[in-house]
This record gives sequence, structure tokens and C-alpha cells, in this order.
Amino acid sequence: MKYANYSTIIIGSGIAGLYAALKIEQQTSLPDGILLITKSNLGESNSNYAQGGMVGVMKENKKDSTSSHISDTIKAGAGLSEFNTVKFISEHSDKVIKDLLNFGVEFDRNEKGELTFTLEAAHSVNRVLHSGGDATGRMIEKALCAKISENKNIDIYEQTVAVELLVNSKSECKGVLVFNDITKEYETIYSPVVILATGGIGQLYKYTTNPIGATGDGLALAYNAGAILQDMEFVQFHPTALAIDGDENRFLISEAVRGEGAKLVDADGVEFMGKYDSRLELAPRDVVTRAIYNEMRENHTDCVYLNATCIDTAKIQKRFPNIYKKCMENGIDMAHDFIPVAPAAHYFMGGIKTSITGKTSIEGLYAIGEVASTGLHGGNRLASNSLLECVVCAYEVAESMKKLVLNAPKQIDAEIKATIEKYTQDFDTDDADIISLKKELQEIMWNHFGILRNEKSMLEGYEKLTALGNKFHRVHSCLSREEYEFRNMLTVSKLIAECAIQRKESRGAHCRTDYPQTNEESVHSHISRKEGEPLFC
Ligand code: FAD
Ligand code: SIN
Repeated sequence: MKYANYSTIIIGSGIAGLYAALKIEQQTSLPDGILLITKSNLGESNSNYAQGGMVGVMKENKKDSTSSHISDTIKAGAGLSEFNTVKFISEHSDKVIKDLLNFGVEFDRNEKGELTFTLEAAHSVNRVLHSGGDATGRMIEKALCAKISENKNIDIYEQTVAVELLVNSKSECKGVLVFNDITKEYETIYSPVVILATGGIGQLYKYTTNPIGATGDGLALAYNAGAILQDMEFVQFHPTALAIDGDENRFLISEAVRGEGAKLVDADGVEFMGKYDSRLELAPRDVVTRAIYNEMRENHTDCVYLNATCIDTAKIQKRFPNIYKKCMENGIDMAHDFIPVAPAAHYFMGGIKTSITGKTSIEGLYAIGEVASTGLHGGNRLASNSLLECVVCAYEVAESMKKLVLNAPKQIDAEIKATIEKYTQDFDTDDADIISLKKELQEIMWNHFGILRNEKSMLEGYEKLTALGNKFHRVHSCLSREEYEFRNMLTVSKLIAECAIQRKESRGAHCRTDYPQTNEESVHSHISRKEGEPLFC
């Protein structure tokens, strides 16, 4: 097996991973260099699809303040957001956004050249920066990828899947085992610092706004390595994904469209949000999602509609060029027609428990971005806070590295050698029908661990997950990226299921019809694999 040494390894090329790589390279002494690994092409990630924007609590936005942003974030978080984390991220927003501008990121500006801020649900003022109208993620990724590609000190492995963290018996992470999906070769890469920036889990669900790579890999790797995971039951469903028949990976219709005045209506054009919340279309995401879900169930329909015809056509085309184009491709002129929308899995509030600097419970292992749970989002994320968290935590992980001497480990522990050997042993190479196994898993998660949950249904779902696991026998070596992803999806689904069954209350995105009340006493949930326990799946 091939091997390499690096001073730092970053897994994931979304906004968190790219920005962390650039910041670490800029300010840390890296005798053995820095490696960025991604299982796809550089830049392919959830980040690439972000539309609405990034929260910017900026000094020049006189109507805004950190206290207002902190209050909005905490209200949306349904009592589980960590005050100090929220405060830190809010207070560091101005600094990191100015730093992003230095890296060539552009945000939309008015004719005077001033940054423009838009409104999204549950924000009390306009504070969301956007780029390319509704292509914020793609524009940021483009700028950061350009900087990464021209940086000679950052090596890049594309089409390379991280399959196992190399952790010794003292719970120290010393590197990662990777699988090249083109050559089918393995390589062990040793490093004193491994940063997981592997993003979310949307692909665990039948309907999702997330692209195919969002399979929860980093969570499964960290769990198998013994790290503590937090709040795994909290999955955010976005209220308005484009609901076109048969299309399960759904295109997002940004909340910013509602921010600009669009209304949710039924098939007859009647507005319904007034029945559910006085904040109407701009109530927090979990509230709007449940309202739409309820309308769909009561009316036996598979969508409701977004009426954006009240927005001026020229404004629609300027602010939402990609949404406008996508709708047009599907025969919907959003300036004149209603847009069919329905909820879809969108974001994961749970994750690897970390500090603001990305530190996990395993020495040498860091996690940033959507894979991490810093406590910012609590039980329900406020719109556009995710990109902000990605950049603040990437910035902070790099700051914390300044103090470290990053030499690759000289000696490899026996337990790590034993782990690597598991990937060199012969194993059953019978073909697994991953496409249908994955579909089955996505159905189970959607039907049993979705928008509304109850004990009976979740226990049934858990049994179905166990039965599904019995159809797939690969715990270590797999044959392809898709098999590794499925292995990880099974692990993460079971973790979400266990935590959802355990939380006997409704809070934020975790809504139980059998426990509709919030239990004021309840706190974050934690789950970790005990030493010696067999790997899940
Ligand atoms: P990602 O951007 O998901 O990147 C993960 C990276 O890890 C990818 O490069 C992937 O290939 C790689 N990877 C994963 N597993 C492995 C592995 N095993 N080996 C190697 N590489 C691996 N948030 C906002 O704040 N504002 C918005 O407007 C917004 N809009 C959104 C719109 C859509 C359609 C979606 C899907 C999400 C949106 N979000 C938004 C959420 C936000 O985009 C994400 O939470 C954020 O971009 C996550 O960034 P990340 O860097 O943590 O992970
Ligand atoms: C959106 O544009 O609606 C998504 C924003 C987010 O996920 O924060």
C-alpha cells in the first residue's frame, strides 16, 4: 500500500475545507505540506449549491447589530443554541467576511458599490449577503478554488474517498486511509492534524436539496473512530424545494424569494400561513415546513405553491437568475405562474461535537462546517448561518494551528497497523445492488425519521434499517465510492434513529406527534462508540 506524510490533511472541498486550507497555508509552518482530499472534483459540494446567502453582521449595515443576530439565532434554535458560540460567531462575522473579500470573493453591491443585504425567514433585519443573485455558494467556491489551484503548497487529491481515520489506543488521530475511486488503490496518509470538512447528510432522505455526495461520511468515520457526536436527531427540512414529479434530488427555491415577498398558497391560490404563525412566510424554517406538510396531508396533494408573481419581473430576473432559469426549463414562468414546492431534507444541525476551533474529543482530529456541531444552530438553523459558521470555524481552526508544530508522525502504532490490515484482507466481492439499497434506505428515513415522528413508526424504521444492514456485509473494504457511501449512510441513519427515539419531546426540527410538548429540562444529546464495540452497519 502506498503511503504519504503531511503536516495537515483537510478532507472536503466545500467552503469550510477550502477556506481552512488557504488560511492554514497562509500562517502556519508546515514542514510536510498540506493535503486537501475530496471524493469528487474540487469544488463539488453542498456549498456549491448555496443560494440565499451568508449572514454578514457588518459594521456598515447600520440597521443590524450582533445582539439582534444573536437573539434571532437563539430564537430559531429552539432553546438548544449555545450562547457563547452564537456570540463568538456573530462577533467574528465582519472580520471573516472582509477576509473573504481579500481572497477574491465578491458579494452583490448596489449602484453606489455598497454591499446589499437581503431578508430571510426569522431574521429581524436584512443581513444576508449574496453573490451572483442566487448563486452565493458557487461564487464563493469559484473564488476559493481559484486561490487553491494556484497555491503550490497545497496538494490536492480528487476522486479520493477518506474511508477510515487512523486512531491509536490513546485516542490520538494520526492520519487517514483513503481509496482512489479511479485506480481502486488505497493509500495511508499520516499527519498530526486531520480536519474533517465533509458536509452533510441530505442523501439519507428520499427528497433532498443536497447533491449526491452528501452521505454523512465524516460522521460515520468520526463515530467509528470513537468521537463524540451531538444532537444527531436534528435534521432540517427546507420548506420550498421545487416539486417536479419523479425528481427526488430537488432544486431549491431559496427562502430569499419569500424574503422578497412571495407567498405560499394552495392549488386555488389561497394563502395559508396565517393559520399557522403570525410571522407568516418568514416564520422559522421548521414552522413553515410543518405548515406545508400539514396542508399537503390535509389536501392529499404532493405539493403546495409559491406565488412570486407579486415580485417585479426585472427584479426576479436580476435577484434570482438561476431559479428563474430552472423554473423556465420546467415550463414555469415564475413571474406569472405558481411554483410547485414541497419540503426536502436540507441541513444537518447535529454532528461531531466540537469547540469553535474545530477540536473534537479525539486528539489531532478536527471538524468544521456542516459535519461539526458547535452548538450554533441548536434544534433549528437560522437561514444563511451555515456559510457563516463554515468560514468562522475554518478561520479559527487555522488560528489555533499557529501555535502547533506540525511534523508528520514518525512512528505508527500497532493498532493503526491492524486497522490498515483490515483493508488488505480478502473479502466477499459479490456485487451489491447499491442503487436499490440506497433507495430503500432513503425511503425508510423519509417515512420513519422525517418531518413528523412517533415512537411506533421510529421503532419500525429502526428494524427496517437493521434488516437493510443485513443485506450489506462490508464493514471495512468496499469496492467503490458508492459502496463506501452506502456503508456510511447506514451508520449515520442508525445514529439519527437512535437519538430520535431517545428524545421524547418536540423541539425545533425534531417534531414528535406522541410528545408534542417541549421539555424545558432537556439538553443536547450525545452518542459515541465505546471501545471494543463492533462497527455499526
Ligand atoms: P460541503 O460544502 O458539503 O463540502 C463537503 C466536501 O466534503 C465535498 O467536497 C465532498 O466531496 C467532500 N467529502 C465528503 N465525504 C468525503 C469523503 N469520505 N472523502 C473525501 N471527501 C469527502 N447555507 C447558507 O448558509 N446559506 C445558503 O444560502 C444555503 N443554501 C443552500 C442551498 C442548498 C441547495 C444546499 C444543499 C445547502 C444550502 N446551505 C446554505 C447549506 C450550506 O450550503 C452547507 O451547510 C455548507 O455549504 C456546508 O459546507 P461544508 O464545507 O461544511 O460542506
Ligand atoms: C435558501 O436560500 O433558502 C437556503 C438558505 C440556507 O439554507 O441557509
